[in-house]
Amino acid sequence: MVVESIESVKVAVRVRPFNQREIDRQAKLVVKMDGKMTMIYNPEAPNDEPKKFSFDYSYWSHDGFNTLPDGTAEPQSGSTYASQRVVFENLGQGVLNNAFEGYNCSLFAYGQTGSGKSYSMVGYGKNRGIVPITCDELFKTMEMNNDPNKRYEVMFSMLEIYNEQVRDLLSKDNPKGGLNVRQNPKLGMFYVEGLKKVPVGSYAEIEKRMEQGTQSRTVASTNMNATSSRAHTVVTIIFDQIIKSDSGETKKSSTMNLVDLAGSERADSTGATGDRLKEGANINKSLSALGNVISALADLSMGKKKVMVPYRDSVLTKLLQNALGGNSKTIMIAALSPADINYDETLGTLRYADRAKKIQNKAVINENPMDKLIRQLKEENERLKKAMESGGVVVQNAAGMSPEEIDKMRKQMEDEIRAQLMANQQMIADEETAGDWDNKLAEARRETQELDSEGRGDVSRRQREVHLVNLNEDPMLSGVIVHFLKPGKTTIGRKDAQELPDICLSGLSILKQHAVLTSNKGKVELEPVAGSGSKTKVNGVVVTGKTKLTHKDRLLFGSNHLYVFMNPLNTETTEDLPAEISWEFAQKEIAQVKGFATATGAGLSKDQQIAQEQVLEILPMVSEVNAVSEELNKQKSFEVVLISAAAQESTYGTQNSTSVNNVLTARVMVKMKNLLNGNTWLWERGKFMNRRYLIQDLYQKFLDGEDISKIPKEQDPFWEPTEDVLIGSANVFLQSLSYALDFDDKITITDYKGQEEGFIKVHVTPCQKDGKQLEEDAFVDDPHELLEKPYHFKVTVGSAEVYKTRFSKGIQVKYRVYKDEKLTETPLMKNTLKPNIKHSKVFTFGKVTKEHLEFFESGCITFLVYGTQEDATPDPKLLKYSTKELRQMDQGEAPSSVNMARRNTHFALETASDQSHLKTEVLLLQRKYERLASKEKRMQDICKEWDKKPESEKQFEPFYRAVSAVANSTGTRLKTRVHLLNQKENEKNRRMSRVEEDLISLYVFGEDEGELHTEAEQNGGVVQYEKVKHHHHKDIQLVRSHSFTNQENAHGKNGRAVRSAEGTRKEGSSACTLQ
Ligand SMILES: Nc1ncnc2c1ncn2[C@@H]1O[C@H](COP(=O)(O)OP(=O)(O)OP(=O)(O)O)[C@@H](O)[C@H]1O
Ligand SMILES: [Mg+2]
Repeated sequence: MVVESIESVKVAVRVRPFNQREIDRQAKLVVKMDGKMTMIYNPEAPNDEPKKFSFDYSYWSHDGFNTLPDGTAEPQSGSTYASQRVVFENLGQGVLNNAFEGYNCSLFAYGQTGSGKSYSMVGYGKNRGIVPITCDELFKTMEMNNDPNKRYEVMFSMLEIYNEQVRDLLSKDNPKGGLNVRQNPKLGMFYVEGLKKVPVGSYAEIEKRMEQGTQSRTVASTNMNATSSRAHTVVTIIFDQIIKSDSGETKKSSTMNLVDLAGSERADSTGATGDRLKEGANINKSLSALGNVISALADLSMGKKKVMVPYRDSVLTKLLQNALGGNSKTIMIAALSPADINYDETLGTLRYADRAKKIQNKAVINENPMDKLIRQLKEENERLKKAMESGGVVVQNAAGMSPEEIDKMRKQMEDEIRAQLMANQQMIADEETAGDWDNKLAEARRETQELDSEGRGDVSRRQREVHLVNLNEDPMLSGVIVHFLKPGKTTIGRKDAQELPDICLSGLSILKQHAVLTSNKGKVELEPVAGSGSKTKVNGVVVTGKTKLTHKDRLLFGSNHLYVFMNPLNTETTEDLPAEISWEFAQKEIAQVKGFATATGAGLSKDQQIAQEQVLEILPMVSEVNAVSEELNKQKSFEVVLISAAAQESTYGTQNSTSVNNVLTARVMVKMKNLLNGNTWLWERGKFMNRRYLIQDLYQKFLDGEDISKIPKEQDPFWEPTEDVLIGSANVFLQSLSYALDFDDKITITDYKGQEEGFIKVHVTPCQKDGKQLEEDAFVDDPHELLEKPYHFKVTVGSAEVYKTRFSKGIQVKYRVYKDEKLTETPLMKNTLKPNIKHSKVFTFGKVTKEHLEFFESGCITFLVYGTQEDATPDPKLLKYSTKELRQMDQGEAPSSVNMARRNTHFALETASDQSHLKTEVLLLQRKYERLASKEKRMQDICKEWDKKPESEKQFEPFYRAVSAVANSTGTRLKTRVHLLNQKENEKNRRMSRVEEDLISLYVFGEDEGELHTEAEQNGGVVQYEKVKHHHHKDIQLVRSHSFTNQENAHGKNGRAVRSAEGTRKEGSSACTLQ
């Protein structure tokens, strides 16, 4: 009788506390929980309704807890805080009960890096996670059994999937390329061929084995630089209950899969948007396949027909086939980050979890009579043997396949059958020797004990002896490896050294003989072996000679073996150090010495902090890639580069996805340099990450002995086609435009470090629709006068000069104005360092809005200057050098102030733009001063004329009007150019012959100005003469034509006949029109 239980995957969500970085940057909480409901608020739209989800369990572990002295997190009274114990009682206990009933169980944790998957599954320190508690309880429950007819067998295995390769974490020698995943031809299930399953007899043994597995992960992660957060860890516990009865023995068997999945960052945030090479090999294949499997299963359960579930697409989904849609009771824990900055990822996780809860599984109790099991296995083996002997396998459905394909497939199937035969035989042997369980267990225990001697030692040994303890990016893998120092010398190096070093390290930049530690009664010195160059650091600083170590010093060997030196014999420290040194702390210090990052987060703006975090994350990766470049002699050098917000503004504009609450953050990028010809490339962080995985992959192939010298350049992650490079940028601030003034200046082109790379002459001027210039005094005192009117301005790029000769092949300028979608590009100027670009373009705002004014006030146009790079043949002299030497030469070339320059990277561009800001302001003040001076002059003139008048003509009224008009004028508001209509016939005729003449500037003071300008605007620039006239002195026409003639003479034919009003108007007029 088969007991089948159909039920959905159970889903739990759990939100963790803020981490220190989030606290430092005052992250906002975007997740809330209410009963089974989880809500998430969009930080970019805080007033929108939150998105709501409901799950079987919601665990609030964000706040409401106290941390006891031993580290245990305990709920405060009355709080809803979900502790590890609560989570176990809900989820783990269920797993346990099901296991005892004979169901297969699966528990997996999903979520982005750092969201708390490992915390829930494994736990940290006193806060043990579900896996250890469940194992502990399993043995406790077993111990309570007093039925003599029932016995238990527990087997433990632990594996890691990284890059689609399976590594046995309990085995010392894993084959190259990993273990094979095979499919049982009869049952269809997948299994890992040759995976070590160790018998365990107590919880302590499981703990030891988990520790062994974790150490194995740590070593691999440090040697191979594989980021552990990209690996999936699968712990499997096979729990068998053998029950004796009159009719023989029956076996109830439960397989528990406990899966800590890799971080779920989506491709668009860390992936390779726009990279020439596809997403790093297989890095994310398993995780994306898992997503597809879950979606397909969710569709199936929603009644969709004909859905193919793509289990075969990845190693992970093959191994989880039972857990998802099969014979298993399955629980998923979705780990959530509470912080605003992770909103997108967290929402993604919630949606994922929402799909997963729809999946239906059909779990059966796996209970069978023992002899039946053995009989079945034997029958199966007979059948398989026959199939092989009778001429092999028949490939079905071969239509459309080529003979080679059929042949390949047959070979593959034969292979599978052979493997299955072996596996079955092993199982038969296991079953037949079931009585031997005790022997097997004893043997496994001996092995476990051996592990002890090479492990991290017990607490008391660590309290007595000087030692090194490792740090790893993944907190789960920190403090896992301990090296004790013996009295006298302890050598560090590679295991292929002539004399085997005491501490064997491998991986990048580790020399055969790397360094020596000398310990003498608590006094320890470190000395790098000559030639290890810059590859030994203490507290971030390269050491060259003997260096005394003090307690908690941070040691870096090669590019990523990071340790803390612990000296229980002398715990005095020279600095103020945190109680526990973390990987972040040590990395920050390295970054600081390199010139990045400030001492603490304090005083940094939010975006600077985010940028700093990204730098800290990427810096070790860059060192690593440099080390690979040296080892594979790739002649490339890499460097972290920060592009300040100001410099990106117009490059990336509003599409910038790194913005938090619409604030642009400094952008972290990586510059790759070809050391042979100086060509450079600037990579987005995501692209670099992608390349780094590909580079790791390449390096692994190299280590595995593959010939990688022949890979075509198209597949080489170090290769990139030559492309234009951003030489630097120059900012033009636009305040002048808000006063209708022009800006004309030679501005400095600075690169991202703030270094001068050249200059460019730019002219930005308000103009007419067709680009013609406005009058000189088209100046406004108050930018608001521009509102609601059309506005045109012309951008002219004149001559430029670039200092670096390697850019002589071609220079091009690109810029974006306001919200233009596309960059405006100037023509490419070839073969010169001093191009005369002669580009101009008119930009129009149909109606000036407040935002436009804001743009003028605080915005700028960034002119991006690009240089053409060519794949020049390198100097043959350089080819003699190794990449390492080339890199040293390259660094030597850089000015000694390079550190300073870098240190100031954040601010360099701001300084450059400040200058340009100041220039505009000076110009503005100058114009304002000129206006005031001419006002003053006009008033003095009015007074002089008054003085000259005979007493009888001194009329106060017109005098007062003239003075107050000048005094109260808003200056020269942007004038309207109008045609005066209905003037005297003869006047008109005279003007007809000269078209320009008809156009005059209407220049009005006082209360009528608004009215007349409005009229001009509404009538297409035409104003009735009568309207103007009644404001004016009677001989206005004469004045006008007179002045026009003068002007014409003075300015020649350019028609820009403009005069200041004050100069020619008659006293007493409150308005005048002038040409
Ligand atoms: N519920 C929690 N309570 C307290 N601290 C937590 C909790 N969840 C996570 N943390 C802390 O957050 C940090 C990151 O958690 P964890 O290592 O579990 O992340 P992860 O999801 O496994 O990340 P990765 O994908 O990189 O392995 C750890 O320092 C952990 O101690
Ligand atoms: Mg983890």
